[in-house]
Amino acid sequence: MSTQTRHVPLLDLAAQHAPIREEILAELIPLIDSQRFIMGPAVGELECKIAGYTESRFAIGCASGSDALLLAWMALELGPGDKVITTPYSFFATAGSLARIGVEPVFVDIDPVTFNMDPNQVEDAFHRHQDIWAIQPVHLFGGCADMDPLLELGLKHGAVVVEDAAQAIGAEYKGRRCGAIGAMGCFSFYPGKNLGAYGDAGIVTTNDPELAGLLAKLRLHGGRDKYYHELVGINSRIDTLQAAVLKVKMGHLDGWTVRRQENAARYLKLFSAMDLPIQLPVIAPYQTRHVFNQFTIQCDRRDELKAHLTSRGVGSEIYYPLPLHLQQCFADLGYAAGDLPVSEQVAKRALSLPVYPEMSEEDQDYVVSVVAEFYKDSK
Ligand SMILES: Cc1ncc(COP(=O)(O)O)c(C=O)c1O
Repeated sequence: MSTQTRHVPLLDLAAQHAPIREEILAELIPLIDSQRFIMGPAVGELECKIAGYTESRFAIGCASGSDALLLAWMALELGPGDKVITTPYSFFATAGSLARIGVEPVFVDIDPVTFNMDPNQVEDAFHRHQDIWAIQPVHLFGGCADMDPLLELGLKHGAVVVEDAAQAIGAEYKGRRCGAIGAMGCFSFYPGKNLGAYGDAGIVTTNDPELAGLLAKLRLHGGRDKYYHELVGINSRIDTLQAAVLKVKMGHLDGWTVRRQENAARYLKLFSAMDLPIQLPVIAPYQTRHVFNQFTIQCDRRDELKAHLTSRGVGSEIYYPLPLHLQQCFADLGYAAGDLPVSEQVAKRALSLPVYPEMSEEDQDYVVSVVAEFYKDSK
């Protein structure tokens, strides 16, 4: 082996926290001393910042990205008998948030290059199904789905577009920030996201005052005034301590995003110069700001490569090994292996490599050399 083993994790949150530790504590300590942990000014301030950042009129904080999706479907008053078109190549919450309230996810296949919902599959889904009220694209790995054809199809068939923007804060589609392109945008602040809380948190963005009002009530058990309930909602406030952390981290987000983009560009340059059996991620022309929550390659002998990376100290992850239409909990929907071939193929070949802002050039050179070493040794 040519190079010495080095430890390069998939993500290094401790490295991100170290330089902002004092800034975070300065926000948290007064809050802890006040013992006011529910709602309060930090929540409103964060909501204003996120609305501005996502170019949305409103932002409504909630407990997680999963709840952001659930609240969006509740605000649209969807329930049993209703259907939503979505992608099977995503984190579980994309479809789980629908199924949780009795809504049927109608899965359509993805584009093999961008990993996102293929708009060409959507028209057919409208013909095969009645009662489709929404289209839910996911801006996977930090790159926007192709929104214009989806918005057009939505308009044509009377369905709204709800963006699962959990992985894509700050990403742009043809110069427009995601989250404000469809009727609602749902974001996750899970620690591993580009803007990560110190626990769970999420937010819904919208330009529609009526939806904003509904969302604000739904997250507070359906009423803004204590003990008076206009609707049956859920308890899904954003934790005040998390809002305070996120307010501080917002100030660093653009810098971190630039580092992710630089790392991605450098990977593309380094890998392109080698003749390896891997397919590199592609930035589609409409993805005018890709924020690289993940840098995901598609490769031959993926599981062996992952094991090799692990043995050489490099973190990697398979997002996602089993597409949603083939999950056991959705067996009743009647999908079979082979129904959505692109998603199934990508699930066998995708591997995400470290792209976090704090990684050094030496770390990155090492990751590239370990990937190259695998294919060289195994030729
Ligand atoms: C695409 C997608 N949707 C929804 C979620 C759910 O977010 P959370 O983990 O904050 O509930 C996630 C995050 O893990 C995600 O990646």
